[in-house]
Amino acid sequence: MAGDSKTATLLGTAGPVPGRPVPAHVAIIMDGNGRWASRRGLPRVEGHRRGVEAVRGAVRSAIHFGIPFLTVYSFSSENWRRPAAEVADLMGLLKLFVRRDLAELHGNGVRVRIIGDRVGLPPDIEEVLREAEERTARNARLSLQVAFNYGGRQEIVRAVRSLAAAVAEGRLAPGEIDLATIADALDTSGIPDPDLVIRTSGEQRVSNFLTWQTAYSEFVFTPELWPDFDHAAFAAAIGEYQSRDRRFGGLGAQAG
Ligand code: IPE
Ligand code: IPE
Ligand code: MG
Repeated sequence: MAGDSKTATLLGTAGPVPGRPVPAHVAIIMDGNGRWASRRGLPRVEGHRRGVEAVRGAVRSAIHFGIPFLTVYSFSSENWRRPAAEVADLMGLLKLFVRRDLAELHGNGVRVRIIGDRVGLPPDIEEVLREAEERTARNARLSLQVAFNYGGRQEIVRAVRSLAAAVAEGRLAPGEIDLATIADALDTSGIPDPDLVIRTSGEQRVSNFLTWQTAYSEFVFTPELWPDFDHAAFAAAIGEYQSRDRRFGGLGAQAG
């Protein structure tokens, strides 16, 4: 197939390097849907629709590369600041995505988890999110975290409250609180920290994404707008990740 040979060429040049580990957890700040649409004279919602297509592609790519954890930032705590009509479009698209794609995701062994604040979500949205999680809970090929109504700082506030309640009830001593206790109180409990964070659209900021978890993540900022982020772009980001020397405060590849 023509598409495959194109991919193979790109994999051979800018894609994953054989023999070097691929990231176990890739987290993506999917940005640029609105600009993708306005550049074509289309309404912003059309960009979001195409963005959903790109999510489908990213899931396929993650499975192809053997990446076990993929997290996508789909609606931030701050995205409520957008016009009500756009917020409604984004909610509607999430519902549509779960309705249309859940069976296929399930069939492909994808486990869906939602991270973010459930409180204050419309009940119909809460319901589809719960259904997606429950139906796929026993799948293990790819764990797909959808960050929805998610803010990294808000997540830390919720975690601190739950730990404070445990202390107040005498279930936890303040001195017992350590890195693992906090990590376990976050929405991402049990999920490894992202090795690689990709942000599309050329913006170079984290926008309240995985504040605690990205302490030692590698960041790749790519110019493509999210609807244009395809398999080759994903492959290139992994190749870039593999070229990095992760030191975690030590000496990494310089050692010895
Ligand atoms: C990302 O695209 C999707 C969400 C934030 C929900 P944007 O909607 O932010 O697109 P731009 O940044 O305006 O182009
Ligand atoms: C971050 O994108 C949130 C998501 C991708 C869901 P934004 O477009 O909302 O971020 P800012 O406002 O440019 O920082
Ligand atoms: Mg944006």
